[in-house]
Amino acid sequence: MIFYFSGCGNSKHVAETIAAGLNDTLVFIPEAARGNQYDYTLAEGERLGFVFPIYSWAAPKLVMDFVEKVSVKVAPSTGSGTLAPYVYFACTCGDNCGHTEKVFRKAVEAKGWQLSACFSVQMPETYIGMAGFKLDTKENAQLKIDRADDILMRNIPRLIDKECFSEIVKGSLPWLKTYLVNPGFNRFATDDSKYHVDDKCTSCGRCQDVCPMENIKMPQGEPVWMGNCIMCMACYHHCRGNHIQYGKATIGKGQYYFGIKG
Ligand SMILES: Cc1cc2nc3c(=O)[nH]c(=O)nc-3n(C[C@H](O)[C@H](O)[C@H](O)COP(=O)(O)O)c2cc1C
Repeated sequence: MIFYFSGCGNSKHVAETIAAGLNDTLVFIPEAARGNQYDYTLAEGERLGFVFPIYSWAAPKLVMDFVEKVSVKVAPSTGSGTLAPYVYFACTCGDNCGHTEKVFRKAVEAKGWQLSACFSVQMPETYIGMAGFKLDTKENAQLKIDRADDILMRNIPRLIDKECFSEIVKGSLPWLKTYLVNPGFNRFATDDSKYHVDDKCTSCGRCQDVCPMENIKMPQGEPVWMGNCIMCMACYHHCRGNHIQYGKATIGKGQYYFGIKG
């Protein structure tokens, strides 16, 4: 079973590729959380996987909250009681992950499990909500996707074999980024009141459809952000005419989501 979150499709691609390789099932974390579905049972020998993007050098808060709440039972193995599951995570990042492994390992251990494997996969950047952050060039984005597929082809057999390994790109100053910047980001930089549309918005509803948090309503035709934003920027990136902006930070920065044409 693979629990996953994805805003702009990068982590969805990774989760789907792993699921295909392991012949496994996918559970989309926001949907499970909305439906209050926290009880799961693994078949004998089944792996327990988590796939998510790095948002400010950590897993998104939604993912960590889910890990804390989820209850996963393991079907008893023939004759010899309950086995601990093989637990792994794969995360996608534009550059690096800080101490995500440390934080996630602690959360997993608090559940009485052991984290057996984890790896990070660089994928095209999606965050452009502040000055100084920009998207990858088209060439660089494609290069990252090609390399990511190589990493997946190398690591999926290791997950099949239930190998223990850790391949996380931490980057510089991981402590500072994960333990200081991340809490500040979650507190101050996920304010969705800065999203707005220009007067060319056609009220097509695509932003509403792609929001994984179901945080966008359209009571009068135009999108309204309801205050439960995870800052994945899916609404901004998927808007057909690029009519959504986040304050002034996103102006002229272009759009990206996994599978975008051109
Ligand atoms: C809010 C936000 C914060 C991000 N923070 C980081 C980061 O700390 N380090 C990094 O390398 N990439 C960061 N990124 C880039 C994403 O991790 C990367 O593009 C990821 O593949 C997006 O996955 P998704 O399409 O499944 O949401 C961030 C993206 C967003 C939207």
